[in-house]
Amino acid sequence: MVKALLNDVKETFIAMFKKEPLLVFSPGRINLIGEHTDYNDGFVFPAAVDKGVVAAIHRSNMSQSMAIALDLHSSIVFDLDKIKPSKEKSWENYVLGVVAEIKKRGKVLGNFNIVLKGNIPEGAGMSSSAALENSVALGLNELFQLGLSKAEIIFVSQKAEHNYVGVNCGIMDQYASMYGIKDTALHLDCRTIKAKPYTIDFKDHQLMLINTNVKHSLSDSAYNDRRSACERVSKILGATALRDVTEADLEQIEERISAENYQKALYVIQENERTINAAKAIENGDLRTLGQLMYQSHDGLSNQYKVSCEELDFLVEQAKENPNVLGARMMGGGFGGCTINLVAKKAVEGFAESVSVAYAKKFNRECSVYFVALSDGAHIID
Ligand code: GLA
Repeated sequence: MVKALLNDVKETFIAMFKKEPLLVFSPGRINLIGEHTDYNDGFVFPAAVDKGVVAAIHRSNMSQSMAIALDLHSSIVFDLDKIKPSKEKSWENYVLGVVAEIKKRGKVLGNFNIVLKGNIPEGAGMSSSAALENSVALGLNELFQLGLSKAEIIFVSQKAEHNYVGVNCGIMDQYASMYGIKDTALHLDCRTIKAKPYTIDFKDHQLMLINTNVKHSLSDSAYNDRRSACERVSKILGATALRDVTEADLEQIEERISAENYQKALYVIQENERTINAAKAIENGDLRTLGQLMYQSHDGLSNQYKVSCEELDFLVEQAKENPNVLGARMMGGGFGGCTINLVAKKAVEGFAESVSVAYAKKFNRECSVYFVALSDGAHIID
């Protein structure tokens, strides 16, 4: 699948610019557990997948640069000296933001042409944005020999999202997309930015994603609101981040914060704990416990952190009713996108079928089922 994508992007680039481009592949990610913990300096458990963004890039001797989003049939021409956020909140800001952040670091870029195309469904909670940012940043780094390390590139990508897209995201997505390892999930400490790799072989079980195919509006502002609420609570407690706060600490200030913010902070503390316990469960080959932790994670995201939606809740309820599904939860920022499910291999087809029928009946729209392979992180294609 990635091969077809690569050929498509390469051929389009050659047809347009008559040059062999440099090719970059940058993947999306899943996350086993650990949602909304990254910007609280906590633990997450993502893995890069075999869906992502391909970028074809080459220097240009024109006086401006050009970026083309093939799947959106959209393009922009811009002046490297006059970079500013585009008013339309679109893919352009991911590209422009990366360029601006690289320049902020004192690196010198020449003009370039870039063609981009991806196969991550948009709004699926699989980080098509981080994949896009990393593909541009990695491509420019190689093309102009900027000497940025992978560790610097992921922060370039993250800052592009903060400053140009307006989402104050954590580092999980950019990290997973950059450092992914085949057949492996990364238990990442978002404070130290160090991960412990876990080989994932669930034997007679497997992961399955179900996309609600909805993305509710206001998800970006709701995301930023959650982050500010967490920061306010940890400030009241004199802590650097909620990662350092215990449930007992939180109880001490219960009277001083709203009931909603109390629940949100409690969710983060508990989700961080669950993510640590999930690593232990995987170490012990205890998939039942892992599944239970996933259900608890969803419950917290829905009822305490309030980032789920009717469609996601419905899919998780369907999973709970099926004894062959050990666990399920919404994945990513929320308000739509996918659930991640841990399903007995023998029951995958049956579950996919029954959930699809039930979802279509309930919402009068289709859900989509995906199977992904855990894969290597962003890289230049030889
Ligand atoms: C989005 C953000 C991540 C992370 C998740 C929620 O994907 O980009 O940084 O906060 O939401 O876990």
